[in-house]
Amino acid sequence: MKLFFSALLATSLSAASADKTVFSVKDDLSFDESGKLAAHHMLYPAGNWDCPAATAAAPHGFEFRALAGEALQMVFPDYEPGSSACPVACPELGTDRSVAHAIMPHRRNPDSTNNFNDWFEGNCKRAEVCLINYHSRETPVKLFWVDRDGNPKLHMEIEYGERKTRCFHSFVGHRFQAQDGDTGAVVEEFTIEHTLSTAIGESPPSGDPQGHNFDREIESTLRHEWTKHERIQRTFSPLGFKKARLPDDVFASMGSFYFNNRNNVLREEWNGKGVFVNWWETDCYFVQIPWDLKGKWQERLRLLVEAWAGVPVEQTDMYGLRQYVEGARLLTHVDRESTHAVSLIVNIAQHNLTEPWPVEANDHADRLHEIIMQPGDIVYYESAKALHGRNRPLMGEDARYINLFTHYRPTGDPKWMLKANPEGTPEPVLEVKGECRLQTVGTAELPNKQLGIVEAVKCDDERLGDTISPTLFTATGGEDLIDWWKMTGANRKKATYNIE
Ligand SMILES: *[C@@H]1O[C@H](CO)[C@@H](O)[C@H](O)[C@H]1NC(C)=O
Repeated sequence: MKLFFSALLATSLSAASADKTVFSVKDDLSFDESGKLAAHHMLYPAGNWDCPAATAAAPHGFEFRALAGEALQMVFPDYEPGSSACPVACPELGTDRSVAHAIMPHRRNPDSTNNFNDWFEGNCKRAEVCLINYHSRETPVKLFWVDRDGNPKLHMEIEYGERKTRCFHSFVGHRFQAQDGDTGAVVEEFTIEHTLSTAIGESPPSGDPQGHNFDREIESTLRHEWTKHERIQRTFSPLGFKKARLPDDVFASMGSFYFNNRNNVLREEWNGKGVFVNWWETDCYFVQIPWDLKGKWQERLRLLVEAWAGVPVEQTDMYGLRQYVEGARLLTHVDRESTHAVSLIVNIAQHNLTEPWPVEANDHADRLHEIIMQPGDIVYYESAKALHGRNRPLMGEDARYINLFTHYRPTGDPKWMLKANPEGTPEPVLEVKGECRLQTVGTAELPNKQLGIVEAVKCDDERLGDTISPTLFTATGGEDLIDWWKMTGANRKKATYNIE
């Protein structure tokens, strides 16, 4: 009789654990219809019953899963089966299936046996929140934290606009209420489900087109940008730019942040900031990145840029995520020289494009290159010297293209541009052997299902790489930049912004 009982017990236990055990990250975790994690997850090795995660109850917003086999190997490659250690990791809600195994170091703990609860509260449940007041210019919005019993407690006041963004730490599951500062009327109520960046109220238009003569401003800007780029002598790399790939865990973190906040994009303020983005023709959006998260990304990206530039670099700027939509164009330009020596573009996501939207970058001899990026790709570039832009309009109904930009200069050296190249700097590619020509390399299916001919540029001199523009365009002065802007804009969609 006793035997019979324990056999029953064993059966039901193994059924319970088999139900939770994950053998494949891609197949066995919970994903939504877009292939993104449908909840925050807490992952730990199966079979270790001393592991606090194995017996803890999952709180609001979380699923706890034990890993075995290939999943265990992918998430915890250093784990030795039978070890008494309890490594844990918590991939975020909204992480793409392809990188759900890749978890940033700040969301991992090599052994949680003695500190599971504190670590989990501080690293998995804790969520940064950034809020902007677009509700009222006159009176700050009042933000209340709502306690367990439903009582609102004043948390902070938020003044109007992007510059007055307030960021703070909260926890998944906490509730908030925003009230009009004058009337006390509740304007918004929300529960924190993930790292959050949003606004109370609606962002105003990017700028006021009244009083502008855009064609004239664009032409004088392009002439000026040409002159600026000619002033810089210092180079870091053979061509002035290079395409590479983000590490999976950084891509996972950026991708989930964007996905979770994709409906919170705000119009970027462009008044008085020039004509580099065609904000009068198409809306340009941004998402503010919470400060701690930004710091985590910055340090990882800095190490990549440093390795590429070949000198120690310090971070000077990181712009929030930018989201471009159909019709967006970026004028050819160079960046502010004292702070922008070497920079990085990251493509985080792109949707509904009917044509690629290449980054245009001039090499050190002003030959035009067009570099096509996929989500997770990065392009390093010498931002004060290499002219860059995206003059071709972003094409596709409901097209979206989401980028991050981050900027560096040689550590402690705001006058870096006045210095000669140090010994060991790669030789810039100026004179080249032979020529480049456009060649048919095959066929491919176009978005309209027709078969199209794929052409690529082949150069005799391999140092030019495979990104030379199919137009074989080389600029020799500001007038050429103006020609390129006119040429690429010839078939652009009519302005969506109504200028009267
Ligand atoms: C792509 O376009 C379709 C149709 O306009 C739209 O419903 C969808 O939301 C777009 N996808 C994204 C991710 O923006």
